Amino acid sequence: MSPAPFATALTELTGVRYPIVQTGMGWVAGPRLVSASANAGALGILASATMTVEQLHAAVREVKSRTDAPFGVNLRADAGDAGERVRIIIDEGVKVASFALAPSKDLIARLKDAGVVVIPSIGARRHAEKVAAWGADAVMVQGGEGGGHTGEVATTVLLPQVVDAVGIPVIAAGGFHDGRGLVAALAYGAAGIGMGTRFLLTSDSTVPDAVKAKYLAATVKDVTVTTQVDGLPHRMLRTAMVDSLERSGRAASLLRALRHASAFRKESGASWPQLVRDGTAMKHGKELTWSQVLLAANTPMLLKASLVEGRTDIGVMASGQVAGLIEDLPSCSELVERIMDEARATLKALPDPS
Ligand SMILES: Cc1cc2nc3c(=O)[nH]c(=O)nc-3n(C[C@H](O)[C@H](O)[C@H](O)COP(=O)(O)O)c2cc1C
Repeated sequence: MSPAPFATALTELTGVRYPIVQTGMGWVAGPRLVSASANAGALGILASATMTVEQLHAAVREVKSRTDAPFGVNLRADAGDAGERVRIIIDEGVKVASFALAPSKDLIARLKDAGVVVIPSIGARRHAEKVAAWGADAVMVQGGEGGGHTGEVATTVLLPQVVDAVGIPVIAAGGFHDGRGLVAALAYGAAGIGMGTRFLLTSDSTVPDAVKAKYLAATVKDVTVTTQVDGLPHRMLRTAMVDSLERSGRAASLLRALRHASAFRKESGASWPQLVRDGTAMKHGKELTWSQVLLAANTPMLLKASLVEGRTDIGVMASGQVAGLIEDLPSCSELVERIMDEARATLKALPDPS
C-alpha cells in the first residue's frame, strides 16, 4: 500500500491523518475543540493546566465519547499534581502527552513505558537537546511570533536550528495558519506544524463570538509581548487592559496577583501548600522572585476573564502575531482540508528543480 499523502514522522508516531497539531491552549482547547480537531484528522491537544484533576478526567472521557481518533493532553510538568494527571493519561489510553515545560527524565520514562507518546514544547535549542537526550519522542518548537508565553527567536531561525540539533521529529509552531506554512515547515525538516491562534479562531472553538471578533479585527501590529502579566514574556493582543497593566505600579500589580492567586486556587482545586510547592518548583533554576511567582497566578485568571467570560475589559487575549492574517472562522474540518489543499497546490507551484 502506498503511504498516506503527507505522511511524516508525526503522523506515523501518533496515528493522525495529517501532520497538523491543534496545540494545548488554556481555557480554549477543551473537549469540543479537541474532538473537532481530531475528527478533522489533526492531533487535538486538551489543555489541562486550567482544569482540576477531576475536570481533566471528565474532559478526557468526553473527547473519547466524541471521537475514536488519537488526541493528546497538555500539562505542566512542575504542577504538584502532575503525577495524578499522568495517571489519568495512562489509564485512559491517551495517545500523546504534551508539556508546557520540560518534563523530568523519570516522568518521560513512566509515560513511554505505558506506550504514551511524549512531546514537550520548547522555545530554545538547549531545551530540545535536553528532552531528546531524556527520551522524548518528538519536540514542538515555538518561535517568538507564537501566542502565549513565548521566546525571542523567530520560527524561521529556531526551527532549522533545532532540526539540526536533535535526532527526533520536530513539530514547528508559531506563526502558522495555512498550507504554504505547512510546506515551508516540512522543507525546513519539520514533521508537521502546530497552530494555536488559528484553531482558536474556528467555529468549533468555545471562545465567545465577540472576543473572536476582536482577534479577527487585529492587525499584525496589534499583537504585542508584555512581561506585565506574570513577569514572563507573553504574547497577546494589545488592549486598554494591557496598557493599564503596563502603567500600574508594583504595589497594584502585587495586590492584583494576590487576588488572582486566591481565585486560581479555588478554580484549580489546589491547596495553598500545593501552590507554594508549585511556586518553589517554578522558582527552581530560574531567577524568579516570590512576587513574580505570585504574579504567575495572574495569567490563568486574566485569560479566563476574556476567553471564557468575554470580559476583555478586565482580561487579556493571548495571541500569535498570525492573528493579523486571519480573517475567518472555519470549522476545524474546513480548516484542515483547506490547509491540505493549499499544501498540495503550493508544492505543485514550486519551480521545477531540474
Ligand atoms: C490563548 C492561548 C492559550 C495558550 N495556552 C497554552 C497552554 O496552556 N499551554 C501551552 O503549552 N501553550 C499554550 N499556548 C501556546 C500554544 O499552545 C501554541 O504553542 C502557540 O499558540 C503557537 O503559536 P501560534 O499562536 O502562532 O499558532 C497558548 C496560546 C494561546 C494563543
